[in-house]
Amino acid sequence: MQNFVFQNRTKIIFGKDTETSVGEESAVFGKKLLLHYGGGSIKSSGLYDRVITSLQEQGIEIFELSGVQPNPRVSLVREGVSICKENNIGFILAVGGGSVIDSAKAIAAGAKYEGDVWDFFTGKQPVEECLPIGVVLTIPAAGSETSGGTVITNEEGLYKRATGHENMRPQFAILNPVLTYTLPSYQTACGITDMIAHILERYFTNEKNVELTDRLCEATLKTIINNAHTVINEPTNYNARAEIMWAGTIAHNDSLSTGRIGDWASHDIEHEISGIYDIAHGAGLAIVFPAWMKYVYKHDVNRFAQFANRVWDVEIDLNNLEKTALAGIKKIEEFFRSIGMPVTLKEANIADEHFDEMAKKATERWPLGNFVKLHEEDVRQIFNLAR
Ligand code: NZQ
Ligand code: ZN
Repeated sequence: MQNFVFQNRTKIIFGKDTETSVGEESAVFGKKLLLHYGGGSIKSSGLYDRVITSLQEQGIEIFELSGVQPNPRVSLVREGVSICKENNIGFILAVGGGSVIDSAKAIAAGAKYEGDVWDFFTGKQPVEECLPIGVVLTIPAAGSETSGGTVITNEEGLYKRATGHENMRPQFAILNPVLTYTLPSYQTACGITDMIAHILERYFTNEKNVELTDRLCEATLKTIINNAHTVINEPTNYNARAEIMWAGTIAHNDSLSTGRIGDWASHDIEHEISGIYDIAHGAGLAIVFPAWMKYVYKHDVNRFAQFANRVWDVEIDLNNLEKTALAGIKKIEEFFRSIGMPVTLKEANIADEHFDEMAKKATERWPLGNFVKLHEEDVRQIFNLAR
């Protein structure tokens, strides 16, 4: 096991009606905030009104910036940075999903920086200071509610890039599973796929003695798999929604990374797809992950056989571990398909015209991944496997 430091400062407030505490939690950070949200789901669900009431009860002055799109854009981030600077705003409240939270995090860093916020995403400038942010989560998926990362798309060149810092972790995250009842089943499935991918990125490691985190990963995966069809078929099933919501946070709060080095190539490859084609991140991962698995499984057939056996209950064939490993990859593909995800590029109406560009962009800064290092040609092969 590797040495590690684990610290996740985000206070989690979980359960029914918890959004009513948002005013009290926010007031700790001052009497002025930027309320950041997306395209309208929080208005139609009534959540917006409840948040405003709770903030007003605390006498908080509210500035608003809405319109965050899935795959959030740097142009709106720049707008948010200007609003914060011009009005001397000291706190950002993100109400929504990963896109809103990521946009809020980028604004939080940009508000404390003299230069252009995109500098953080090109590597020109590391993130140092950030405004504090708080979250009311409406979709369990990205795990951004406790992560120290943000992913933003630059419309110029269609670059989707990530950056991060410990100071970006939200101060608090309010998680009420009831708020997820209104999710369309496609978005629920994208979220489920993303949280599974966050665990798999950590699971496929070259570190040998990590039994505890292996088993925590497997337990979280099994919980997600066991509850996935329930939340899709019964959107108002509180217990299943609660399991999925908490699993989404556990998947990405970094406790499952302790003592091990994760891979993350599939995420980087997916960001090229959603950067150009603007598809949901989860759908992109359902396509990329099985292809990545097929490309790399021979690197550690034992680990892939363990995954097949412990997560998917595939019987281990000791005379043919490769067969067991491949059966596990088939299981995850079938699972993604069963929840309505595309598992090939064709199913997402994506042809091969940008394979070269995407492979080049994905690897132009450094090779991808840690489990197996991937170069431009490897990424092109993975796109070919995902056709
Ligand atoms: O904009 P509104 O109207 O709110 O609609 C949203 C949006 O269209 C809708 N939605 C959210 N909650 C809802 C709802 N609709 C009905 N009822 C609700 N309760 O869902 C749509 C998708 O929302 P989005 O925030 O884009 O989803 P998600 O949470 O999956 O976030 C995806 C983004 O997170 C990034 C992804 O790359 C992608 O850009 N990621 C961020 C990470 C991080 N910061 O740690 C890690 C992840 O790997 C990921 O890369
Ligand atoms: Zn993800």
